[in-house]
Parts: sequence; C-alpha cells; structure tokens
Amino acid sequence: MSGQDAAGGQPLRVVVVGAGGRMGQMACTALEGADGVELVARAGRGDDPAALARESGAEVAVDLSVPSASPGVVAGLVAAGVHVVVGTSGWDEAALGRLRQQLGEAPEGTGVVVVPNFAIGAVLMTRFAEQAARWFTSVEVVEAHHPAKVDAPSGTAVRTAELIAAARAEAGVAAAPDATSSSLDGARGADVGGVPVHSLRMAGVMAAQEVWLGNHGEVLTLRHEATDRTAYAPGLLLAVREVGGRPGLTVGLEHLLGV
Ligand SMILES: NC(=O)c1ccc[n+]([C@@H]2O[C@H](COP(=O)([O-])OP(=O)(O)OC[C@H]3O[C@@H](n4cnc5c(N)ncnc54)[C@H](OP(=O)(O)O)[C@@H]3O)[C@@H](O)[C@H]2O)c1
Repeated sequence: MSGQDAAGGQPLRVVVVGAGGRMGQMACTALEGADGVELVARAGRGDDPAALARESGAEVAVDLSVPSASPGVVAGLVAAGVHVVVGTSGWDEAALGRLRQQLGEAPEGTGVVVVPNFAIGAVLMTRFAEQAARWFTSVEVVEAHHPAKVDAPSGTAVRTAELIAAARAEAGVAAAPDATSSSLDGARGADVGGVPVHSLRMAGVMAAQEVWLGNHGEVLTLRHEATDRTAYAPGLLLAVREVGGRPGLTVGLEHLLGV
C-alpha cells in the first residue's frame, strides 16, 4: 500500500538493502503494506545502494545485509545524503565512531538510526529490566534462539546485562550472592559485568529472552519471545518514518519509543 501519507503528502520513498534475505523480505512486505511509504528499490549483493537510491529517488534506505558489508553500504548512502535505518548486526563502538565522523561530513540533516532489535517488546523488556535491576538482590539473564544462530550470547542479552550492571553499579547494589565454589565449565553462564547470561540453542524457538530478578521471598520474571519475523515490522516502520527527522546518529529503538 504505497500512495499518499496520512497527511495527504507524497509517500516516503524507501530502498531495502539485503532485500532477498530473511529480514529483507520481511521489510519489503511490511513497507508494501504500510501507509505513507513506498518501496521503490531492492538492493542485493553486487548492487550499489547509493546509485540505486539516486536512480529511484529513495530518501530512506533500510540496511539488512550482512555485518561484513553493512559499514560500506551505510557509508555510501550517508555520503549521498540518504537517511539510513540499520538493522544489520555487528555495529560495535569503533564502527559507530567512524559512522559519526562520516555523518559529520555528510549533507546537512542526514540521519542514521541503528536498531540492534526492532521488536518493540524486546526493547521494552530491556528497559524494564534496567529499571528493576537496582531493587533486587539477584539478577540473571536467559536467552534462547534457533540452532542456526552463530553467536552466543545474543547481542540483546549482552546489552540487557550491561544496562542492568550499570544501573546496579550506579545505585551501589552489592554483587548478587552466589556460594558456588565448584562447577562445570559454563554452568553459571557468561559473566557480563557481574550478571550471569545463559544461552539455549533450541529447535522450535526463534528468539526469546528472560530476565530473572530475585529478592528474599519474591521473584520477578520478565519474558519476551518473538515467534515470527513480523514482530520486527512495527519497529522497522517506526524507524523508517522517524529517521528523516533525526539528523546525526541514533542508536536504539528506545529513543524513538520515548522510554
Ligand atoms: N535488528 C533486528 O531486530 C534484527 C533481527 C534479526 C536479524 N538481524 C540482523 O539482520 C541481518 C540480516 O539477517 P538475515 O537473517 O536477513 O540474513 P540473510 O537471510 O543472510 O540475508 C542477508 C542478505 O544480505 C545480502 N547481502 C550480502 N552481501 C550484501 C551486500 N554487499 N550488499 C547488499 N546485500 C548483501 C544477502 O545476499 P546473498 O544471499 O546474495 O548473500 C542476503 O540477501 C543480520 O545481520 C542479522 O543479525 C537484525
């Protein structure tokens, strides 16, 4: 559903990079079904996304390619003044620093929103865990993903644990009690800033995460599960609609959700 936007103006023209991939196909379907946006081009391996954006008049690009290609793809688009929503993983602090520099040299007003997780529920869960962390004696994170996932723990689980650890440090919360004095390797999970993170790789699961928070006499469990890639569509469309109004670099959907 392209056509006019809600205010009766011209639709926002969008190119998807990595359009043939699992996430890229989801993005194309979401864009084709949304009001006020128009999918004008699909880029894959071997295409020049900036040239495609220019030829098709795309104002916004969505990058859902592969970590090895993403920085080059985004640099080319930014230099051409195309706003970019980046969903591809692998953007560490060093890469984000280089992108900030490229944005400083890009046409004025160019914006990039890097979204490590488009699922609104997952973003909210991370935020709620961060808020709750200081009020509990013990906190641990458990994530479960499909068996084809190559990295562990997931980026979202690591980020959640980092934010929990920072909130606890700021509030002066003591380390969680743990009397374990002997264990098999990995039994207590990976240590992320003092927060144990446990990874399951499970047929039948796409992406799930739990945060367990314990006090004497009570346990709070926050749980999110994405069972289908359509879970990513509302967050993706929000980022596509907002990126043009956010010059420079924004990292994380939480800033767009206002939480
Ligand atoms: N932010 C989120 O919420 C979220 C959620 C899930 C996944 N992800 C991330 O999104 C990315 C894509 O995931 P996926 O599952 O869709 O992977 P995928 O199925 O492997 O798709 C990647 C696509 O990128 C294409 N590609 C490779 N090199 C390219 C290049 N230089 N220029 C343009 N396109 C290129 C591939 O084409 P070929 O088939 O020709 O190689 C393929 O179509 C991954 O980094 C994944 O971790 C993000």
